[in-house]
Amino acid sequence: MRKRIVAGNWKMNTILPEALALATEVSNLSQKVCECVGVYIAPPFTHLSDISKVINNKRVILTAQNCASEESGAYTGEVSVKMLKSIGVKAVIIGHSERRSYYKEDDQILNKKVKLVLANGLQPIFCCGEVLEERNSGNHFNVVKTQITAGLFDLTVEDFKKVIIAYEPVWAIGTGVTASPAQAQEMHNFIRSLLIEKYGQAVADCCTILYGGSCKASNARELFENEDVDGGLIGGAALKAEEFMGIIEACRCHPDCNCDCNKDDDDGCGCGCDCK
Ligand code: PGA
Repeated sequence: MRKRIVAGNWKMNTILPEALALATEVSNLSQKVCECVGVYIAPPFTHLSDISKVINNKRVILTAQNCASEESGAYTGEVSVKMLKSIGVKAVIIGHSERRSYYKEDDQILNKKVKLVLANGLQPIFCCGEVLEERNSGNHFNVVKTQITAGLFDLTVEDFKKVIIAYEPVWAIGTGVTASPAQAQEMHNFIRSLLIEKYGQAVADCCTILYGGSCKASNARELFENEDVDGGLIGGAALKAEEFMGIIEACRCHPDCNCDCNKDDDDGCGCGCDCK
């Protein structure tokens, strides 16, 4: 059974005191939510080290928004995976559409970053998604297929098993326009079919595929209810602890979940996340 995850991408927001307050609140509130839902937060680089000291690192997975494509050396301004690892970072977002478009990160660079993240024992959250013109011209499946194939499909099965995929239609990011549940499910199902073809059914079934793009507490449930939507990568709505928790609570346990909190509760997991 695959892990359900809600990840908050803070982007270039918050100064240190705000970040510490937000991270502390998310960490405290997350204790009350079923452990079946993984909680990831991706603050700016400058805050990671301090945040690592104020959160429950078992419950909240500290994530970076990016990393260098090289191991170390003369790359002014870059931050290496080893640096991130040394301050307690466990996961790295790779290939966010803002990195792809504003910083011209292409499939080859992103593939290199994914491998570097894995080689250092961290978990990549690999983003893909089409722009509006690509969807309108019916090219969205091809675009996502190319991104996934180039970014991930030379990984060994063992490495691939550690990857989280995030489908983020670019037209939905920060726009207030969310993909409909049917559009999200259609693309997630397509992505899973690519994974089945490449790595087989069992591996594909275990891969967490997140949806991202104007996801908030009020629309999260209808998105996460879909068979192939395993949680969300959240931007704007991750900057308010209560709103972010609302999204986490909408990310129910899998119906077959055997988690501890399901045990003493006939009609749900009893953890406040509304599992049924
Ligand atoms: P948004 O961003 O939730 O603000 O649309 C999502 C993302 O870019 O990861």
